[in-house]
Amino acid sequence: MKELLADAAARAARYIAEIDHRPVVPSAQNVARLHALGGPLPEGPSDPAELLALLDDVGSPATVATTRGRYFGFVIGGTLPASLAANWLAGAWDQNAAMRVMSPVAAHLEDLVQTWILELLGLPSASAAGFVTCTTMANFSGLAAARSAILERVGWNVEEDGLFDAPAIRVVVGEEVHVSVLKALSMLGLGRSRVITVPADGQGRMRADALPVLDQHTIVCIQAGNVNTGAFDPAKEICARARAAGAWVHVDGAFGSWAAVSPQLAPLLEGVNAANSWAIDCHKWLNVPYDSGIVVVREPEHLRRALSAGSAAYLTQSAAREPWQYTPDASRRARGIELWAAIRSLGRSGLREMVERNCRQARLFADRLRAAGFTVLNDVVLNQVLVSFGTPDQTHRVIAEIQADGTCWCGGTLWHGHTAMRISVSCWATTDQDVERSVAAMIRIANSVKAA
Ligand SMILES: Cc1ncc(COP(=O)(O)O)c(C=O)c1O
Repeated sequence: MKELLADAAARAARYIAEIDHRPVVPSAQNVARLHALGGPLPEGPSDPAELLALLDDVGSPATVATTRGRYFGFVIGGTLPASLAANWLAGAWDQNAAMRVMSPVAAHLEDLVQTWILELLGLPSASAAGFVTCTTMANFSGLAAARSAILERVGWNVEEDGLFDAPAIRVVVGEEVHVSVLKALSMLGLGRSRVITVPADGQGRMRADALPVLDQHTIVCIQAGNVNTGAFDPAKEICARARAAGAWVHVDGAFGSWAAVSPQLAPLLEGVNAANSWAIDCHKWLNVPYDSGIVVVREPEHLRRALSAGSAAYLTQSAAREPWQYTPDASRRARGIELWAAIRSLGRSGLREMVERNCRQARLFADRLRAAGFTVLNDVVLNQVLVSFGTPDQTHRVIAEIQADGTCWCGGTLWHGHTAMRISVSCWATTDQDVERSVAAMIRIANSVKAA
């Protein structure tokens, strides 16, 4: 065991050391070699050292280099050193984080992280947090709490009686709502198409002046950080309107929530702490390993009622916070360990530095691309940049060639009718040199496409 783990650590360290020197995406040959991992179902055991060597030899070259500083696709973070190391130790611990009795350390670290996150993000200190797999599940969990609370007000117990014949719930979303919110609504029986959609402005912000009349049967889903532009819905105005009407506000703050750690950026979130529930991503901008998200609900009882299981004689209950009563899962890995390591290793100032650096780097991308004659389509308020390289066809070709070139990786999107390339700067490891090297490749490729 000891030798095997030492071998795994050596291989992992070599992978990290070498990854900067290879293309961000694997070559077609290395992807084709993956078949060497397959074959018929093994009838008998294999030597763990041999299979680890095979996994490294064949698997490592077929990875996408998201853990280093030149991957700008989707919204993808890397893994902070302290979190990766904590993840390895936690792997050895193999803790089930469901119940306090199964893992006192996992439960204790979740308690701590809950307190730290609420303080860091300026959310109400008596709120409850659930440690889930991703923002999609955080949206699901926050909206489950909303559904439960709204129906409880009219005397309906949705956990016991379901939605059959239940009083109607209205759901309001912005035109630029993230698909994960719609997926969560569909899983909750609230439907993706039954929503009332509020128009957005040119940056994708929900227009508060176009909100319908709100009431206490309404859930308003707002967004902090548009996946394309990084823009924030006007939380202050929307939360004030919702509060006066008794409506519930849920915030999809996947990556935008982290703006709260920077006094420069925090004004973008003004008023967001008056909402009722928040979905926050940790595997993106907090740079912890997958899979990690947090749901926060202002009144703990709403989250607990929505997600706790019924009783069973062999399962423990206690007066302390029982982690599994705040998540859709029961048994799960102890992802609070890596969150604790990330926050403890960076501290408030380190987190602020990382978030502000990534935002400055996004502005650097935008400045360099504009200076080279290309069109930046959004106001770069956070870490997202949208750029057009000319006609839709030219932009598609530039994106394809950037992806094939391997210096960096960016994906495409359609923004208000314009074909664009998305640049998302979300990795702790991104240096200004990474940005300069990547933007030089983008400009070289875009100029050659333009000239062709
Ligand atoms: C605004 C927003 N919400 C939700 C999500 C979904 O996040 P996850 O993949 O962690 O479920 C994303 C992903 O980029 C996002 O940008």
